[in-house]
Amino acid sequence: MVDFQNILDAITLEANNTLDKGKIASYIPELACADKNKFGIALLDKNGTLFSAGDTKEQFSVQSMTKVLTLSMAFDLLGDNLWELVGVEPSGDPFNHLSLLEQENGKPRNPLINAGAIVVSDILVSKLKNPRAEFLKYVQGIANDSSIGYDVSVAESEKRTGFRNYAAAYLIKSFGNLENDVETVLDFYFHQCSLSMSCEQLVNTFYIFANRGKCLQDNQHLSLSQIKRINAIMLSCGFYDEAGEFGFRVGLPGKSGVGGGIVALLPDNFCVVTWSPGLNEKGNSKLGLQALEKLTTDSGLSIF
Ligand code: DON
Repeated sequence: MVDFQNILDAITLEANNTLDKGKIASYIPELACADKNKFGIALLDKNGTLFSAGDTKEQFSVQSMTKVLTLSMAFDLLGDNLWELVGVEPSGDPFNHLSLLEQENGKPRNPLINAGAIVVSDILVSKLKNPRAEFLKYVQGIANDSSIGYDVSVAESEKRTGFRNYAAAYLIKSFGNLENDVETVLDFYFHQCSLSMSCEQLVNTFYIFANRGKCLQDNQHLSLSQIKRINAIMLSCGFYDEAGEFGFRVGLPGKSGVGGGIVALLPDNFCVVTWSPGLNEKGNSKLGLQALEKLTTDSGLSIF
């Protein structure tokens, strides 16, 4: 049997001893306040047993990891009609690029790049009475944790500087693929990105993707077919123009955020979340990637 605790302790030691911890995202000014020396890793095995090492109880900005959760909610509401509005192909581009959007008539390549998540936000704004409150309740419900909330200072900071997201949203709108007005959609998008959660809260939430749609309380949140599709999108699109590299080095579906978090999972086996705020040049956590490569190498567990 794999000794997860031993592996997580070794990973944390290696992370703490690594001198080059990457670069903290500063294009959202509020994120620049993060401490580069933080490192945490939390893992839930198939029985729901928690293993953790480092700073796993401290909340940080979830950012793009939340795109998987808005996608889940929208997929549940719209079913396969969703794929008429957003694709399922990797973009091979950075998360905030606009060129493909112009070439492909405002239909984003996938729901995990910014443009795709903006279309998903638009769907939730159309379908829900109070999107901010209802999305938060959805996440709290899966995690079974009412202490999860938005960090309004991060949302406001991004609203002041989110020029590329405004550009993407207006471009999508110009092609008729955005129903609501740009301000309303982006207000919801910036808030969803600002969710503040710890590694332990995230692993409790994302556990459903490793556990056939069921949370730790044994409630079914998504069907097996929905889980298959969302995990496939995480595998091919979760790391933007580094998706190939992540598959090559780690071998798991997953998703990153510019707050320095990464979630990855092996269906029917485990879900893991790492946090280290320093990023590599592709916008993914440098030590998180290193940690997950070590986890799958030392445990011998990956989808391959
Ligand atoms: O829209 C943005 O740029 C951020 N709120 C989220 C980007 C992000 O997390 C990319 N992930 N690695």
